[in-house]
Amino acid sequence: MDEVSKKRVFSGVQPTGKVTLGNYLGAIRSWKPLQEQYECLYCVVDLHSLTVTQVPAELRKNTMDLVALYIACGIDPTKSSLFIQSHVHEHAELAWILDTIAYVGELNRMTQFKDKSRKHADNINMGLMNYPVLMASDILLYQTDVVPVGKDQVQHLELARDLAQRFNARYSDTFVVPEGHLSKSGQSIKSLQDPTAKMSKSDPNDNALISLTDDADTIRRKLKRAVTDSDTCVRHGADKPAITNLLNIYTLCSGVSMADAEKSFEGKGYGEFKDAVADAVISVVEPIQAEQKRLLADKAYLESVLKQGADKASYLAQKTLSKVYRKIGLIPRIR
Ligand code: TRP
Repeated sequence: MDEVSKKRVFSGVQPTGKVTLGNYLGAIRSWKPLQEQYECLYCVVDLHSLTVTQVPAELRKNTMDLVALYIACGIDPTKSSLFIQSHVHEHAELAWILDTIAYVGELNRMTQFKDKSRKHADNINMGLMNYPVLMASDILLYQTDVVPVGKDQVQHLELARDLAQRFNARYSDTFVVPEGHLSKSGQSIKSLQDPTAKMSKSDPNDNALISLTDDADTIRRKLKRAVTDSDTCVRHGADKPAITNLLNIYTLCSGVSMADAEKSFEGKGYGEFKDAVADAVISVVEPIQAEQKRLLADKAYLESVLKQGADKASYLAQKTLSKVYRKIGLIPRIR
């Protein structure tokens, strides 16, 4: 397929705290195969992370760690554009335009806004409410066809679609209306301490999550402490949420099917099972960590990737933004 006929993919992760095994299995891992079929833009959305108070030095470190992690997870900078959101100023500019057609009511109703307002009651800033509009801007700026997202982002993607349609209806066809691409696996990775809640990087209980930066001993210890269900049988099912979650992690990390996994743990206890889950997770995480470490030592390479990514993204972004400005009635600057 040539460049012109390839559909476009956009996705991003915030450089806040630790990327979890859930983020990896649910989102980032699915990005690699998409590169073969689509023109992909993968973004570190640093502006989004400012909606929660950040320590500048940590934000800087987390951003570069995430850039290296993307590559370590198989994003190939010669195939995809890998860039930092704040390097392409059009994201913030289009967000302003989209703000003028987004309604306070619809932003106020967003589930994540309500959740985060509860969690950060001392800092319910306008950015927190605007977060989905900036996300819509990320997506619409590149005339994105497909957005790989987790279940928790579906409502935000819906808003992006609504805003695209609203703008198109008011000013004539301008934006591609994006489709979501829900990853089947990752949405089901749950907290190790409460299998009814998602594995979240902001969980205050560190034992609830496996971070991609955890070493082998930590991973083993966290899995040992993971909650289980009342009987001792290793099988999946709605009545066994904790073991189902561990089996999901095991199958996704080992590549063994659910049926084969259940068969191989027949008659075995939770202890032995958890050890096998730990082995499988470690075998996935360790090579990523080694590659991330190697990349972080090569700053010049990472910077060249980011420069190239931002150049490519800027070119596309500027095309969309100038079209938008023209349609709205803003006068182009004389050069
Ligand atoms: N809101 C997303 C999340 O928290 C991150 C994100 C920002 C994103 N902009 C995006 C994801 C655009 C997909 C497309 O996971």
